[in-house]
Amino acid sequence: VTGAERIRVGPARVDEVDDVVAAITALLRELRGDDSYEPAGMREAVTAFVTGQVPGGVLVARDPAGVRGVLAYSIPVAIRVAGAYCLIQELWVDPQLRSRGVAGELLAGLAEVCRREKLTRVEVCLPSPRFAAFDRTVAFYERSGFRMAGPRAMWDLP
Ligand SMILES: CC(C)(COP(=O)(O)OP(=O)(O)OC[C@H]1O[C@@H](n2cnc3c(N)ncnc32)[C@H](O)[C@@H]1OP(=O)(O)O)[C@@H](O)C(=O)NCCC(=O)NCCS
Repeated sequence: VTGAERIRVGPARVDEVDDVVAAITALLRELRGDDSYEPAGMREAVTAFVTGQVPGGVLVARDPAGVRGVLAYSIPVAIRVAGAYCLIQELWVDPQLRSRGVAGELLAGLAEVCRREKLTRVEVCLPSPRFAAFDRTVAFYERSGFRMAGPRAMWDLP
């Protein structure tokens, strides 16, 4: 029996906010290659997503040990799609449970949300190509049905 067989995917509950914060902190540390990174304001941000105060949500993959994977998404609107679409903001699976289809189950959960909300486009921002596991992340999305689009740029205003 693999761990993934006992995995259940569903919307994050309010009592799981701290687990989601821990998961996204682990993701950001992994992407930055900095184990001491402490992102600010995450509790409030996660709470806003979990309680529906912003257009979006958080799906979690749970097993008896707790939250083992997280997929956070927002629902922006864009002229180019003539309406709303789904943007994956964060996706992370516990390293001990990787390569067992947990992220695939989170994506299946997201597809269900999109069907319910009548959204037919899902986009995701990829990590920087400098990220050590970039190629594997790209392989994961391509295998899941995503096609690659152009890279994105960021402008941090003072
Ligand atoms: C990408 C990620 C969410 C996939 O989760 P997962 O549950 O292992 O995914 P699945 O089991 O459905 O698919 C596994 C595939 O993911 C890919 N993958 C990407 N990064 C990986 C990693 N660090 N370790 C293992 N697999 C990884 C591989 O292609 C793998 O295929 P393989 O098992 O044949 O090698 C997970 O590896 C992760 O959290 N990575 C670090 C953060 C990240 O890149 N997040 C996405 C961008 S924000």
